Amino acid sequence: MTGILVLHGPNLNLIGQREPEIYGSVSLAEIDQKLITRGEELGFEVRTFQANGEGTLIDALHEAQDWAYGVIFNPAAYTHTSVALRDAVAGIRIPVIEVHLSNVYAREEFRHKSLISPVSSGKITGFGWRSYLLALQSLAWMVEEENK
Ligand code: DQA
Repeated sequence: MTGILVLHGPNLNLIGQREPEIYGSVSLAEIDQKLITRGEELGFEVRTFQANGEGTLIDALHEAQDWAYGVIFNPAAYTHTSVALRDAVAGIRIPVIEVHLSNVYAREEFRHKSLISPVSSGKITGFGWRSYLLALQSLAWMVEEENK
């Protein structure tokens, strides 16, 4: 089966409880389960991982190269600040899709800037937990096209 890493950045362990008016009331465990279930339908083995630290996220990106076709990555607040994560995304040879639950462009100006977008394959923002599912569907289409 084709491996997919779903990687969640800082504070996303709190979603469901954290600012539900912005991030919704679905928990991270529920989102992960939706991705695993939909992944099975698409022929993917989806593995999910959340970390609050930059270094742990970087290690997960590096290691994904050994087993995953691609990565769905919500870098959370590090999106706007982390050169180290930007370099990790640029440095791995597999596609990385940037996702956000909220529409970052409808929020504070500091969220409009992403260091990750220029080095990612694409970006999906503003569809709540569905942002992750849209990214999964995009990866399925990428695999399908490669196997034509
Ligand atoms: C977020 C948007 C970021 O600006 C914020 O720091 C987050 C979550 C989102 O999914 O909407 O923690 O990545």
